[in-house]
Amino acid sequence: MRYEQKITLKNGKEALLRNGSGADGTEVCEVFNATHAETDYLLTYPDENSFTPEEESEYLEKKTESPNEIEIVAFVDGKVAGTAGIEQVGSKDKLSHRAEFGIGILKEYWGLGLGEALTKACIQCAKDAGYAQLELNVVAENAAAISLYKKLGFVEFGRNPRGFKSRISGYQELIYMLLEL
Ligand SMILES: CC(C)(COP(=O)(O)OP(=O)(O)OC[C@H]1O[C@@H](n2cnc3c(N)ncnc32)[C@H](O)[C@@H]1OP(=O)(O)O)[C@@H](O)C(=O)NCCC(=O)NCCS
Repeated sequence: MRYEQKITLKNGKEALLRNGSGADGTEVCEVFNATHAETDYLLTYPDENSFTPEEESEYLEKKTESPNEIEIVAFVDGKVAGTAGIEQVGSKDKLSHRAEFGIGILKEYWGLGLGEALTKACIQCAKDAGYAQLELNVVAENAAAISLYKKLGFVEFGRNPRGFKSRISGYQELIYMLLEL
């Protein structure tokens, strides 16, 4: 899918949100590793990221050519500040109405309105792709993310008390949330 929008951040700077391209592969890979090292709330550790920059480029291009999936890259001052995307839960008929959402922003850009803008962009793309609901899971201690999701209308539909096992903090409870589109 394709998407492009410019927004003004809370610090007055402009951010560009657009679908990823092959040329973004190396930087997106670096930012993926950095965001996953900065927080213990994401699924993978940087050493578990099996994507090379070339594979990341292919992944981004595939998403852009997809009719119902997208990876949106946020640029501030021409540099990648974070990414967010939607992915179909499954291609079988009975699952094709469901999409999953994921987001990661570099710490230096937190609190500027980027998370909200990226999430809204993904919600719009999920609607455009014809999904009936957008889903996510979030670590129960991740107050900032939960607040963002609730603000945009996501509701909790369940919990997994031992959803993640963190190398640092042990078991982490996962909250499952969805947004009806
Ligand atoms: C969670 C995350 C996406 C939020 O992005 P952000 O750009 O900092 O958020 P925004 O500035 O757009 O804020 C939007 C809303 O999020 C919530 N929020 C953001 N930071 C918050 C904080 N420190 N405490 C509480 N709520 C917060 C608020 O509801 C805020 O709305 P408001 O400005 O009206 O109060 C970002 O912190 C991040 O990438 N974290 C690391 C990765 C991660 O946790 N991903 C989610 C995995 S489920």
